[in-house]
Amino acid sequence: MARTPLIIGNWKMNVDHVAAVSLVQKLAWTLKDAEHDPAAVQVVVLPPFTDLRSVQTLVEGDRLDLAYGAQDVSDAPPGARTGDIAAAFLTRLGVTHVTVGHSERRLHHGEDDALVAAKAVAAVAAGITPVVCVGEPLEVRRAGRHVEHVLAQVDGSLAGLGAEQVAAAVVAYEPVWAIGTGEVATPEDAQEVCAAIRQRVGQVHGEAVADAVRVLYGGSVKSSSAASLMAQPDVDGALVGGASLDAAEFAAIVGAARP
Ligand code: 13P
Repeated sequence: MARTPLIIGNWKMNVDHVAAVSLVQKLAWTLKDAEHDPAAVQVVVLPPFTDLRSVQTLVEGDRLDLAYGAQDVSDAPPGARTGDIAAAFLTRLGVTHVTVGHSERRLHHGEDDALVAAKAVAAVAAGITPVVCVGEPLEVRRAGRHVEHVLAQVDGSLAGLGAEQVAAAVVAYEPVWAIGTGEVATPEDAQEVCAAIRQRVGQVHGEAVADAVRVLYGGSVKSSSAASLMAQPDVDGALVGGASLDAAEFAAIVGAARP
């Protein structure tokens, strides 16, 4: 089964709502100039929450062929959760994707697999595609336990989703040691773990689900490294941090994903 490549730009806590409008415009123009085909490669940007309304207005007003999402979501319905954002609010803003369990949330907000799983369930219930992030820290990689570590995260973080929901979900393998360090994983390292993730999904939900689920690599992806990573059979795209803040660089990564 042919999976459509997916490139996601995670802006993290960068770019305020004013700057977001120019970055999205610039990205849309750059992609158009590069004759980007949205049917061939799906592109999603993840601005901070405070930018989403501005991005929605721009994308809808100018009919841009660009999807956008959020970087986190509450596991709870609307109510007494100060500072949290309900999935239903994101749906209202036209959000299509949300990352859950990013390593920066696991680290700075103490998120564990059970919470990540609950967030994925909340996203799906609101019609939003969860991008479930997993990845090992350096000491685990050095000890050679990266595959088992990641598979335990996959088991725990996808625990609340049924087969059809996993088939429509995205899993992003982001080794913590590669995030923001400039130290990108080798294509072989990315392939090893992405293949193991797909195999585990197959063991739990069957081959058809394993064939359908998209598995991305993330961690210091640049236009220079994107093509060789995405040439790997089990790497269906990239979750891009720093390089997604530069429209030309991000568009070049999108171009490298063209099948
Ligand atoms: P960098 O591309 O900046 O390493 O970030 C990766 C990431 O964490 C994307 O979610």
